[in-house]
Amino acid sequence: MAGTSSSATSVASHLGHAVTPGPILLLGAPGVGKGTQAKELMRLWEIPQISTGDLLRANVAEGTELGRAAREIMQCGNLVPDDLVNQMVAVRLNQPDTRNGFILDGFPRTLPQAHWLDSQLAARPGALPIVAISLQVDYNLLLRRITGRRNCPVCQRIYNVFLQPPKRDGFCDVDGAELVQRADDTEACFQGRIGNYQSLTAPVIDHYRSLGRFAEVRGDQEIATVAAEVVHAVERMRAGA
Ligand code: AP5
Ligand code: MG
Repeated sequence: MAGTSSSATSVASHLGHAVTPGPILLLGAPGVGKGTQAKELMRLWEIPQISTGDLLRANVAEGTELGRAAREIMQCGNLVPDDLVNQMVAVRLNQPDTRNGFILDGFPRTLPQAHWLDSQLAARPGALPIVAISLQVDYNLLLRRITGRRNCPVCQRIYNVFLQPPKRDGFCDVDGAELVQRADDTEACFQGRIGNYQSLTAPVIDHYRSLGRFAEVRGDQEIATVAAEVVHAVERMRAGA
């Protein structure tokens, strides 16, 4: 099966209808499947994916002031300063489509970002508390996922030449656009990205684990299986079990 759409249908047909999702954090290392799973959940619950990586790349592509500041930093996986990322997220969270919930993908990834987010959401009238899911995949598979990833620049669908190949090599199944590879999806950049993840983002995972409403899900399973486990975990946590 290429891409994510058929697995999304199987998840949407029988799971997740019992809850208002609220704010969901998808946490985990580069390549663990945050973007892939966020797309599953957004279809299921009709809530937006807020990927700080995607938003930053869009700013770089458009040449905005933020994009010009972020461009060099992102080239090989260093982190954009907290203030810039927080401001960008604040603007996105103010949009009305976040009312029933949203999936944060790639944010927060430092403790200052986590503390900022916690205070923002605490001030939001009627907001449900955060539920956090930590996805886990071992190093060798992460490397294969990162170096094999290709993206459709038109519909943003995510492929992998080793694991989730398109039907026609190099082209999107949905719209036929030529697939692209992210500049930071090299083995050399991956080492730095993992290093940043371990030093700066692992403490964020400990923070949400300590707050409760936290679950770990194995990301090295079929996309639909991971999605179903994430949905069950959110349902359990929203029910307070
Ligand atoms: P970002 O875009 O967030 O990159 P990342 O965290 O490194 O995560 P990835 O997007 O690489 O991985 P993913 O977990 O989404 O995996 P995916 O689903 O694509 O950030 C990029 C940069 O922006 C950062 O380095 C930084 O510079 C900056 N930035 C972003 N947020 C920031 C922040 N908060 N603060 C500061 N700077 C920030 O899957 C990977 C591959 O695996 C795909 O090919 C997919 O097809 C495949 N795959 C996924 N799941 C499965 C499965 N179950 N089975 C088989 N294949 C699978
Ligand atoms: Mg991603």
